[in-house]
Amino acid sequence: MIIPKPLRFTPAPGTFAFRPNVAVVPAFHADPACAWFVADELSQKIRVATGCFVTNRAGNHGQAAAPGSVVLTDEGAPSDLGQEGYRIEITPERVTLRAAAPAGLFYAYQSFAQLIQGHAAANGDTGRLTELPCAQVYDKPRFGWRGLMLDSARHYQPIEQIIRLIDRLAALKLNRLHWHLTEDQGWRLEILGYPKLTGVGAWRNNGKGRYGGFYTQEQVRDIVAYARSRHITVVPEIEMPGHNLAALAAYPELACNGASTEVTGKWGILDGVYCAGKEQTFRFLEDVLGEVAELFPGPYMHLGGDERKKGLWDSCPRCTEVRKAHGLAEESDLQKWFMQRVSGRVHESLLRRSISWGDNIDKGGIDGQIVHGWLPEQTAKAARQGHDTINSTHEWVYLDYPQNAEDHADRKPDWMIVLPLEKVYAFDPIPQNLEPQFHHHVLGSEATLWSEYIPDEAEMYHQLFPRLYAFSEAVWSDPGVRDFADFKRRLSVLQG
Ligand code: ACM
Ligand code: ZN
Repeated sequence: MIIPKPLRFTPAPGTFAFRPNVAVVPAFHADPACAWFVADELSQKIRVATGCFVTNRAGNHGQAAAPGSVVLTDEGAPSDLGQEGYRIEITPERVTLRAAAPAGLFYAYQSFAQLIQGHAAANGDTGRLTELPCAQVYDKPRFGWRGLMLDSARHYQPIEQIIRLIDRLAALKLNRLHWHLTEDQGWRLEILGYPKLTGVGAWRNNGKGRYGGFYTQEQVRDIVAYARSRHITVVPEIEMPGHNLAALAAYPELACNGASTEVTGKWGILDGVYCAGKEQTFRFLEDVLGEVAELFPGPYMHLGGDERKKGLWDSCPRCTEVRKAHGLAEESDLQKWFMQRVSGRVHESLLRRSISWGDNIDKGGIDGQIVHGWLPEQTAKAARQGHDTINSTHEWVYLDYPQNAEDHADRKPDWMIVLPLEKVYAFDPIPQNLEPQFHHHVLGSEATLWSEYIPDEAEMYHQLFPRLYAFSEAVWSDPGVRDFADFKRRLSVLQG
């Protein structure tokens, strides 16, 4: 009943009965605060499913909890569990959730919550679940990078919608929320040093009036903290050099021609490219990224780098002069120089690891930067060059694509291929043609939710589910335990 499927699930004889007064007992010395957080969440789930009165009681290593307790502990956790692995033992006497580190405990809780949910559903969801079959679970992930990319620019999601989304990610043991915050169609992140980015850049005319919105720095801190307590690292994406009409509408001087422009409601590869020949561009980006680093304490910063409209730099005297001064042959060399310059700053001054989309991989990746593949071969090329890489090859994991041919056929463009559940399920983050000696460079994958055609929460859930369940199994579970028919059975239980 667990999705993503655990490495080992071993049924055992007997049942664990929920007694009228269940104690949840954190005895987790590695991080007591995290364990209390898990205890609170778990108590709530048990209360709702069983109707029992649940208390949280501090426990200690070496102290047997009372019969009928649910124990959260790091005592005797095998070191091979790593940061995210866990064990669950359900015996007639007690339930033990065991992990070596807080993320593992959190995932033990998520699996146990699904077991409760599944058994409650199988018993008619009466709120009176009385027992669970005994079992042992041993589990750890195949990949460390398991994410979702959310585009908050094409359409804007209210903060509560993102909070609800984070809960859904956490339940599937996804640990990265890649937040696409800047685009031609809107700049969504408050930057104190450049107030017009949101004053002007967060708003567009959508034909009916003003459309848009942005996240204040306080809201961003809340989101980051909420995600962090659920072991999700928020990876901000500040896109460059293209996809920036909104920034250029706010600060036209950052464009090659300096001409005023508007935040657009059109989709595609547009003219919003920063001038690579102006020092002002780099000062601006350093300032912006400095604020971004203050807001996002996580170790990663995504710099975009995809789909720069070609030809703009070649027709700009400043860009051409800078390109020639550095002995660079063509625009894509200048893009590498641009990204190298900004990522150098990110690595050396802001002490973050940068990420960029794989569009320029034929020019060679950048030292220390993670390559985010989205077109076929980008991931394999990056890995062969010795770069760490995330595989989001669009035909497998772009969850904004329709689930079947009939789905929104009226308004989805032709290039959006159909991406059925089975195909997402069959996805392997390791490209099939990648030689084994490079496999370790594939950190994992992110599903994406580009939001051109996702105006609201209902549409977001329509696109995400059930495919995100399949995706979670593709990035967490061992290929040896994966089986689509079995997955569908578990899915039908969890989805009700
Ligand atoms: C992308 O889909 N342009 C990364
Ligand atoms: Zn220029």
